[in-house]
Amino acid sequence: MPASPSSAPSANASPGNGRAFVLDAAHLSKTFESAGRRLTVVDDVTLRVAEGQTCAIVGPSGSGKTTLLGLCTGLDRPTAGHVRLCGTDLGPLDEDERAALRSRHVGFVFQTFRLIPTLTARENVVVPAELAGQGGGAARERAEDLLGQVGLAERLGHYPPQLSGGEQQRVALARAFMTEPRILFADEPTGNLDAETAGAVEDLIFDLNEQAGTALVLVTHDEALADRAARQVHLRGGRVAGGDARAARPAAAPGEAP
Ligand SMILES: Nc1ncnc2c1ncn2[C@@H]1O[C@H](COP(=O)(O)OP(=O)(O)O)[C@@H](O)[C@H]1O
Ligand SMILES: [Mg+2]
Repeated sequence: MPASPSSAPSANASPGNGRAFVLDAAHLSKTFESAGRRLTVVDDVTLRVAEGQTCAIVGPSGSGKTTLLGLCTGLDRPTAGHVRLCGTDLGPLDEDERAALRSRHVGFVFQTFRLIPTLTARENVVVPAELAGQGGGAARERAEDLLGQVGLAERLGHYPPQLSGGEQQRVALARAFMTEPRILFADEPTGNLDAETAGAVEDLIFDLNEQAGTALVLVTHDEALADRAARQVHLRGGRVAGGDARAARPAAAPGEAP
């Protein structure tokens, strides 16, 4: 796939203040066809996120947020445009190579937690390390440390059905940080939680990101939550609404206040 000027290595190597882009998605579109009709749900979206930067993607239900995350993480392929994730162009990679890249560098948190119900909290947190070939005692110790950080030191042996929603999401957060990802994608991570629990989980997401220097792409329809990110990108009908000025200017300083 020919590289467009917007994804040229020089732009990635020097995005402004010396930090590289962990996510460089340029002119992404996704069109579905069903019953002879074409529906474009992501429409020419450019999104760049620097190391350690926090970016919220905000938009109403159906605006293409989850589809955009799928494209950015290589879980789905775009109809047009291309993605560099952690310096690697996803276009030429097959599914196994994409999975390996995600396993090394990417963390996920979902609205519905997606824990494995037959594994304990500690075992769930260890899974990403095992998938990366780094299981064993050191991984179990790190899992316990992380569960302590999210306030679940007393729940290591609990199974997901024995945990509250907020506790399950905290296990999912510990799991997401297990392999020290360079970027965390969170898709409506507090959407299934009551306000108080959601606030505690939000604090943890931003605390963990700051401590670990992880970039964060946070999908939400909650404007107050989005305001906690350094940057907000608004999606309407699959398009970036109102413009995300820094996305269009690789020489600008990502992560700085507008
Ligand atoms: N596999 C698919 N086939 C057809 N349409 C889809 C598919 N996935 C998503 N869509 C449509 O794309 C639009 C955006 O979906 P989504 O990205 O899930 O939005 P959001 O996460 O913002 O709520 C919706 O109208 C949805 O119906
Ligand atoms: Mg969604």
